[in-house]
Amino acid sequence: MISTANSTPSVGLVGWRGMVGSVLMDRMKTEGDFADINPVFFTTSSPGAQTPTIEGLGDTGTLQDAHDLDKLAALPIIVTAQGGDYTSAVHGQLRARGWDGLWIDAASTLRGNDDSIIVLDPVNRNVIDAGLDSGVKDFVGGNCTVSCMLMGMGGLFRNGLVEWATSMTYQAASGGGARHMREVLQQFGDLHTEVAEGLADPASAILEIDKKILAKQRSGELDTTQFGAPLSGSLIPWIDSDLGNGQSREEKKAGDETNKILGRTAENRIPIDGLCVRIATMRSHAQAMTLKLTEDISVEEIERLLDADNEWAKVVPNTKEASSVDLTPVASSGSLEVPVGRIRKLEMGPEYISAFTVGDQLLWGAAEPLRRMLKIAVGTL
Ligand code: HSE
Repeated sequence: MISTANSTPSVGLVGWRGMVGSVLMDRMKTEGDFADINPVFFTTSSPGAQTPTIEGLGDTGTLQDAHDLDKLAALPIIVTAQGGDYTSAVHGQLRARGWDGLWIDAASTLRGNDDSIIVLDPVNRNVIDAGLDSGVKDFVGGNCTVSCMLMGMGGLFRNGLVEWATSMTYQAASGGGARHMREVLQQFGDLHTEVAEGLADPASAILEIDKKILAKQRSGELDTTQFGAPLSGSLIPWIDSDLGNGQSREEKKAGDETNKILGRTAENRIPIDGLCVRIATMRSHAQAMTLKLTEDISVEEIERLLDADNEWAKVVPNTKEASSVDLTPVASSGSLEVPVGRIRKLEMGPEYISAFTVGDQLLWGAAEPLRRMLKIAVGTL
């Protein structure tokens, strides 16, 4: 394995240029994480090209070929945000040749495996530590909606207070990828262009404007290459593939991954199900939840537990003003804070509550759990 005289571990970084990878790199720079590792940058497209410059680090050489198994197998830790196809192509081959390093991955490919752990350490550090102790080698970031939800709602789940939950999501374009974000903005632009004249004239009839917008949305002229249907000024109530039983893959992940993160098995599984909906926001995923609690506790106590669970969960008072300003994708994007609000008892009974939470899909939903897992992994070497 590659190591250096001062025993700083060498860490392979794959997919560092993509959207999640770029956020990961930024966070690592901000937190000074590069001081603890010797980064070895890999590429699937341009081996031999110059590596990125990291302030404080010397020459990190040239980009290595991300399909060079010998190079990869020389490393104690590999972090990849390259995507599921890369994981499928490389991970199995590396393990088959006996590589026993730690694989830290943003893709969903390995999440369901019995011998992988979904990482979200503010919520499941105990599960991660137990996994490391027992020799688990594959650590995978969770589904973005699930991770953001658990960062906000962890106080109820981790105290065993949830009998079941439904989650109705409002997922941002970024969940699809960079091209999806561009498509949403392009559609907004094209729609605006269609009615710009009428909009500029305060005397124009709004129903005429509305008619033109609808006609444009239905015209087939908007670019819908990524989402398959117009999203801007609309929504798409389906995310990811069709499992054939009425449920989408994204919806199945809510129950499967929440329980796996919490270390729950078939015997003590919490039923979690709902509908996943794409809306035309940019990068924060929101969700409206209904929860049945295992006991009747006060709203004040619920808010106290949520707020106290981790340093990023922030309870927003259940008022119109606070909810409109602090509990939105605009408020949470670019921030590690995960606001949670709209907490109130529902008419169904004292154990039934509503909640609304929103988190940056690219931070807690993708890059941050990987960054933190890398720190934990480095600490074990
Ligand atoms: N499946 C998620 C989405 C991406 O489409 O929003 C992040 O896991």
